[in-house]
Amino acid sequence: MKLVLPGGSGHLGTMLAQAFHGQGHEVAVLSRSPREEPWRTVFWDGETQGPWVAELEGADVVINLAGRSVDCRYSASNRRSILDSRVLSTRAVGQALGAVRRPPGVWLQMSTATIYSHRFDAPNDEEMGRIGGGERGAPNTWKYSIEVAKAWEREVDEAKLSGIRRIKLRSAVVMNPSRGGAFDILLGLVRRGLGGEAGSGRQYVSWIHGVDFVRAIGWLIEGDVEGVVNLAAPNPLPNTPFMRALRSAWGISFGLPAPRWLLEVGALFLRTETELILKSRRVVPGVLDREGFEFRYPDWPQAARDLCQRWKDDNLLRGAR
Ligand SMILES: NC(=O)c1ccc[n+]([C@@H]2O[C@H](COP(=O)([O-])OP(=O)(O)OC[C@H]3O[C@@H](n4cnc5c(N)ncnc54)[C@H](OP(=O)(O)O)[C@@H]3O)[C@@H](O)[C@H]2O)c1
Repeated sequence: MKLVLPGGSGHLGTMLAQAFHGQGHEVAVLSRSPREEPWRTVFWDGETQGPWVAELEGADVVINLAGRSVDCRYSASNRRSILDSRVLSTRAVGQALGAVRRPPGVWLQMSTATIYSHRFDAPNDEEMGRIGGGERGAPNTWKYSIEVAKAWEREVDEAKLSGIRRIKLRSAVVMNPSRGGAFDILLGLVRRGLGGEAGSGRQYVSWIHGVDFVRAIGWLIEGDVEGVVNLAAPNPLPNTPFMRALRSAWGISFGLPAPRWLLEVGALFLRTETELILKSRRVVPGVLDREGFEFRYPDWPQAARDLCQRWKDDNLLRGAR
């Protein structure tokens, strides 16, 4: 099978490219700065049609992951590039799919679990979940992220295509041990004794183990599901037990809690936003559950133990190099 991965040079794309290339599939990553990899990388600018479109001819799958990182302050110029990089790249993929004679049978498009509302009372699945934006008291930055997610998904819906299965992946935070990823950052806090609860600790954390993320993508490619799919482990949990389980997996009992004001100050210094930590994302995988996908890591304590072990193994390997 041939997979084309626009924006596949980042965290998730590298995981997917490694997995599918390792299984013997042909992988082509589209990047604005192609570099040497075990798979092919091809230039695109993320906006306009070009020679890269030929990669889609006769391919089986396209997974679009392109988007400027959201790990920054939401200044006016960053807001514009966060939105444009998602909308324009998705539009370019949709146009290219319409232009080739033998397009892939399935288009998987990244979206985000952040599209759902900040809530504690009930979980958000694809059918009954409440789209956010209207919550009273939600900061302007959270509303902005929801507008981005909606615009992103709209591009998929508005693409004039027939015979191509379209899947919008509302993914929770993907946990894998790679350097600079969300898990690495959280574990860094725990290792320094700073891994206590964040804010009130009541906000739900939705997550998915990287192994299940890759397995779910493979499973969706093989099946016949289309439309919105939540990629999240079935058991999200509040931040307090989430951090407690991570401390316990690492073997440390104490973690300094971080009140909201401290997080806001810290985020200012680190040039980032607190949304990822403070918004309550109670997202569950309704479609994956209903259609019989089996998670290898459904529960956080088990996933956290596994990720800590993988993190140690990776660091041992890095030290040995
Ligand atoms: N990581 C998660 O847990 C998670 C969860 C939910 C949703 N998502 C979404 O899934 C996507 C992939 O996540 P990731 O963690 O792999 O992100 P990432 O590491 O930041 O990679 C995204 C890729 O997008 C490309 N890109 C950046 N700015 C661009 C622009 N202006 N125009 C076109 N392409 C641009 C970059 O490729 P080049 O520089 O090589 O062109 C980059 O490698 C993102 O859109 C992210 O918002 C991620």
